[in-house]
Amino acid sequence: RGSVVTTDVVVVGSGPAGAGAALSLSTLGIPNIMITKYRWTANTPRAHITNQRAMEIFRDLGIEDQVLADATAHELMGDTVFCTSIAGEEIGRILTWGTHPARRADYQLASPCLPVDIPQTYLEPILVRNAAARGTQARFSTEYLGHRQDADGVDVEVRDRLTGEEYTIRAKYLIGADGARSKVAADLDLPMEGAMDIAGSMNITFKADISAYCGHRPSVLYWVIQPGSNVGGIGAGLVRMIRPWNEWLIVWGYDINQPPPAVDEAAAVQIVRNLLGMPDIEVEITGTSLWGNNEMYATHLQAGRVFCAGDAIHRHPPSNGLGSNTSIQDSYNLAWKLAAVLRGQAAPALLETYSAERAPVAKQIVQRANKSSREFVQFFEVLGLTDAKDEAEMAARIEERKVNTPEGAAKRAALVSAMELKHYEFNAHGVELGQFYESDAVVSDGTRRPEPRRDPELYYEPSTVPGSRLPHAWVGDSQHKVSTLDLAPMTRFTLFTGIAGEPWVAAAEKVGQELGVPLEAVLIGPGREVTDLYYDWARVREVDEDGALLVRPDKHIGWRSIRLPADPERALHEAMSAILGRI
Ligand code: FDA
Repeated sequence: RGSVVTTDVVVVGSGPAGAGAALSLSTLGIPNIMITKYRWTANTPRAHITNQRAMEIFRDLGIEDQVLADATAHELMGDTVFCTSIAGEEIGRILTWGTHPARRADYQLASPCLPVDIPQTYLEPILVRNAAARGTQARFSTEYLGHRQDADGVDVEVRDRLTGEEYTIRAKYLIGADGARSKVAADLDLPMEGAMDIAGSMNITFKADISAYCGHRPSVLYWVIQPGSNVGGIGAGLVRMIRPWNEWLIVWGYDINQPPPAVDEAAAVQIVRNLLGMPDIEVEITGTSLWGNNEMYATHLQAGRVFCAGDAIHRHPPSNGLGSNTSIQDSYNLAWKLAAVLRGQAAPALLETYSAERAPVAKQIVQRANKSSREFVQFFEVLGLTDAKDEAEMAARIEERKVNTPEGAAKRAALVSAMELKHYEFNAHGVELGQFYESDAVVSDGTRRPEPRRDPELYYEPSTVPGSRLPHAWVGDSQHKVSTLDLAPMTRFTLFTGIAGEPWVAAAEKVGQELGVPLEAVLIGPGREVTDLYYDWARVREVDEDGALLVRPDKHIGWRSIRLPADPERALHEAMSAILGRI
């Protein structure tokens, strides 16, 4: 057994959760070692839909430009097609990921960033590269074996898979971001709800130029309703764009209760040709793999000095595109808390709020993704395919939607409803952006969240009730236009106020000094540091001009004061102390 290495935080895993944690910690100046089992990052494209919340985090981490450079732009993401094959008949289209003109406004108003598509094979190297450049010690081909924790730290046992050498890393904290088969979560015996491997999927990656079928209806997802496409898997057959329009990934289901299918080159080519509806097309198969669909989440995410993040705590199908996004958000929630505790700015109690805030999100997204996957059954039912005996009968039933009969009309009407339901998978803006935290790191101002005016899964509604994400508004001056989110970087707490709230500025400076915590006031108003360019901020801030919003480093509102109290310094001191667990 080799020697002992020391650091502040060990991160197990270099996926979106692990690399996201390492990058966040290094950005905050916290020493960390990221170990990962394989020689490099993800070897298949896997997650790809990158939502606005994840993009905002990348923006804060200073890597938004790098992500955009490697991503497929929002404009090309959303003409999602349901069809019998790529070259075959269309059953319908739905504009997704906020590309419908009516939804585009919701997305644009909500965030300085738009969703993009970046496969995991492109995203992970960006996260790892920047983490390493900022201080992370990245150890590839290094396997987590186990850990022991005591009152002061954690001994993490690892094995160098090249040399076989085993050694110990002594850290203050450990983050298990080791994916859906997490050994760290198992070692902690985290409480889990649900089941693993409830359906089987195979991924087939291939190259073929099919621009002629895609350029005019650009999308990252083409759903194929074909005989067999409702078996296992994610609800239907899927042709997913990796690069427009010549690199693709097919997801095809299989019966998980049968022995795993052998997907040799010939079988893969056949599946590709079937889904494309192009029996003779030349395709280059670049890879195949099998994976299980899960419906499992942890109800508690940590024990002592060890935390789990990402798929380790939420395991679900790719429906809604929430996997990688939520993993990055977990790490972003945890990183500033670890940094504050390691620096002695917060009491260890702050760390307990990680579970309180992220476990409800884990449950929500696992349930949402599985529901979306199951809701594909509507298409099969509406089209009358569930009890069709053979391929010919299936094809005949799909044809029935064209006939001028009462049955044909009923089928057409039912298809409208089936399409509507898919907005909950592809335009679930409220799920993507509306995360709300209730924990000891959120100090209530006695107000309640406003009742949603629209469906809270489909629509995000900005609010500054403590626990909400800071609403976005464009502000600035004659030379700069920035988002309110840009004014609250992850390196500090930020207090927003208006001109009538001037006394908050001195209060913030004083409280920051007294507590030894980076805290800065941003005063928005004409002639000041930043101006409310479009008067949008006045509309969304929900506090009076002399009130204040206290924003945590992760850009959730930690506390607010509707108006200026008699003693703003005391009010702010109390709120900050409560958030930091120092009372
Ligand atoms: P992730 O699984 O990405 O990373 C785990 C990390 O832990 C890896 O770096 C691994 O090397 C490391 N590790 C594991 N055990 C270790 C050990 N003992 N020691 C050291 N390191 C260890 N999602 C989606 O939205 N759309 C999609 O199409 C797909 N498709 C898809 C296909 C396949 C085959 C998989 C496996 C997953 C998907 N997903 C997906 C899910 C998506 O990839 C997933 O939500 C994120 O990758 C989760 O990120 P994590 O960082 O939590 O785990």
